[in-house]
Amino acid sequence: MNEIASIFESMEYGPAPEAAQPATDWLEGHGRRFGHFVDGAWTKPGETFETAAPRDGEVLAEVTQGTDGDVAGAVKAARRAQKGWVALGPEGRARHLYALARGLQKHARRFAVLESLDNGKPFREASGIDLPLAVRHFYHHAGHARLMPEMVPGRTPLGVCGQVIPWNFPLLMLAWKVAPALAMGNTIVLKPAEWTPLTALAFCDLALEAGLPKGVLNVVTGDGATGAALVAAEVDKVAFTGSTEVGRRIREATAGTGKRLTLELGGKSPYIVFDDADLDSAVEGLVDAIWFNGGQVCCAGSRLLVQEGIAGAFHARLRDRMASLRVGDPLDKAMDVGAMIHPDHLAAVRAAVAAAPAHAEVHQGEAPEGCFFPPTLVTGLQPADRLMQEEVFGPVLVSSTFRTPAEAVAMANDSRYGLAASVWSENVNLALGVAPKLRTGIVWVNGTNMLDAAAPFGGVKESGFGREGGTEGLLAYTKDAAERPKLARVAPATGGGGPADPLDRTHKMLIGGRQARPDGGQSRPVFGRGGGHLGTVSLANRKDVRNAVEAAGAAKGWSATSGHLRAQILWYLAENLAAQAGRFADRIDAMAGKGGAQEVEDAVSALTAAASWADKFDGAAKGVPIRGLALALREPVGTIGILAPDDAPLLGLVAPIAAALAMGNRVVAVASQAMPLAGTDLIQVIETSDVPAGALNLLTGDHAELAPHLAGHMDLGACWGFSPGLDAVVEREAARDLKRTVVTNGRGRDWTGSMRWLLEAATEVKTVWVPYGEG
Ligand code: NAI
Repeated sequence: MNEIASIFESMEYGPAPEAAQPATDWLEGHGRRFGHFVDGAWTKPGETFETAAPRDGEVLAEVTQGTDGDVAGAVKAARRAQKGWVALGPEGRARHLYALARGLQKHARRFAVLESLDNGKPFREASGIDLPLAVRHFYHHAGHARLMPEMVPGRTPLGVCGQVIPWNFPLLMLAWKVAPALAMGNTIVLKPAEWTPLTALAFCDLALEAGLPKGVLNVVTGDGATGAALVAAEVDKVAFTGSTEVGRRIREATAGTGKRLTLELGGKSPYIVFDDADLDSAVEGLVDAIWFNGGQVCCAGSRLLVQEGIAGAFHARLRDRMASLRVGDPLDKAMDVGAMIHPDHLAAVRAAVAAAPAHAEVHQGEAPEGCFFPPTLVTGLQPADRLMQEEVFGPVLVSSTFRTPAEAVAMANDSRYGLAASVWSENVNLALGVAPKLRTGIVWVNGTNMLDAAAPFGGVKESGFGREGGTEGLLAYTKDAAERPKLARVAPATGGGGPADPLDRTHKMLIGGRQARPDGGQSRPVFGRGGGHLGTVSLANRKDVRNAVEAAGAAKGWSATSGHLRAQILWYLAENLAAQAGRFADRIDAMAGKGGAQEVEDAVSALTAAASWADKFDGAAKGVPIRGLALALREPVGTIGILAPDDAPLLGLVAPIAAALAMGNRVVAVASQAMPLAGTDLIQVIETSDVPAGALNLLTGDHAELAPHLAGHMDLGACWGFSPGLDAVVEREAARDLKRTVVTNGRGRDWTGSMRWLLEAATEVKTVWVPYGEG
């Protein structure tokens, strides 16, 4: 057979190499040695380390290991530049972002080749996915910069942002971090991952070329120690993408510092295939879900859940498709899967697969020698197996089967992570019925890994918090422009003597719809400002917190109710509180000395506001460039623990409770420590207002004692600490399962103002992608 005929016979691809030159020219231009990029200029290289190409180990360049001093210098430069950057105004900043977008387009080839070389991802992906998405992010955020006063009215920049990014999408993660921060008037110190610093450095050249004012964007290279130095530096916000383990450490390191934090962490995203799915599409979807970027993707569909009846046939098709995947040189455009990021990571992936349990079957495709790993499918796993639970971060798909939709949902949610999920079914009722039940930040219906600048991206549970993209992402780079008052400490009034009324008993707490005595049998007297004994309140302990959280957990029905129903109950609460306004006002006057009538009126008003919002704090349909919809839905966070403030004992308890309930959360609240009777009096109102048992639980006690138990409880979705002096303990304890927190940052709240900020905190945004259309 002649050569052409044999090619027709085998249908083998020939090599289609992309030239490395656009990247190597740029590297040579820098002598393949880099310092940091600070204040609009390159610093002299310091102590350096090598960055190598995963495909063949070739050293590409030497970059500088950033010291604490380097980081501090970069933060200073960013601080100096921030005022001027803000002064440019929306239009001025928009033009700069537009220039960056144009610059990226102009140098797209250099960036794509460099990314492919430094990371090992196929050039095809770098040029066809990473680059266009990064460009789109800058364009989209040029628009957000331009429209900032209208998009996020009443908000101002945070200041200097420290951003730490991972190695799997070096340029795209830079775009996700840099574009919104700059658009909102912040300045930046960014640390790229030590294995992939090059496209971030190339981006600095682009910033120079595009005339970005000096100091607005600073890049310091280095390893985890440099990242830790940046987290500890004088920055106003830390934005991190990477492993859950490091994310947790950053949460602990920033606890109580007042630094804002967003974390985009790991995942073990379920990929659910129902028996009525278009199986060919679902198989092809898996190629994108788990073999795209070698599976080194935080939202990779790495956990296949397939309906039992089709599992055999589906796995067979999948194995066929795996066999045709080509693994090899990332610069070869005929390759489907490139190199793994680093030999160390390759070893970790290998070890994870080698540890597959005996009851599992491992199927593998082919991969060349070197830093490559074959496409892998592990079947026959049980939900509790380590491989089903732990993130492998490689081209390794693990699979288990389910029988019913309810079982699919239960298995999908059986994970400490909650980043993304895919649902495959030709039955739109089934797919859209399952989507809201999945505890993830993103759901793709009949698709996977769809990403866009307009669509919020981020996780729940241990996949982190905060959203990137869309207007939701802007909130994480801005703060309320109104100055908040300094948080006043209110000492409980002291006094003596016994109760005025001899029949007076210890006020009980509300747990699971019942009045409950404290587990420890402890109580304490409450005195009025005049020194008189006003009553005795229970002192809750850890067991009471556990009981209350359990009761809230059991009241799942509340989260499934409609906004309309929740509104009615909140209106009813308002009505019943208003009916007893005099009694509540007298009580506040007795405890606080004044202000009772106004505070009761404000508390009623907070209830009516929450009632009004209950069916109006909507999500949005996002304008993403697909034929279909990306819906940003608002979902309750779960159970919210609240430590009520002392400066407004009734209003400061009622407003957060009302906002949390309005959005479908369940609540465990601890009444003001100094003036707890406002809370215990409320129990009666709650009991007469049709609030379902367990949806709202009210405790009294010592906040410092209860805070760690509340913030550390693994069944709470969020902890809001409005008590003074407890920010650090709340944020540190919450690090354990990365629950969402709201703390005081030493400032009080205007409880009478808009409650939007509370509604934001009371909801998670879930982005549901629904492509539609035939053919
Ligand atoms: P990593 O979380 O250690 O690194 C991410 C970034 O954080 C890098 O820039 C690193 O230098 C920096 N860093 C490390 N320690 C730090 C610290 N104490 N303070 C501040 N910054 C610090 O991730 P790594 O080691 O590269 O990968 C380990 C695993 O993490 C992967 O196998 C994968 O499971 C997961 N991962 C998840 C990513 C995601 O997109 N969610 C991305 C990369 C890794």
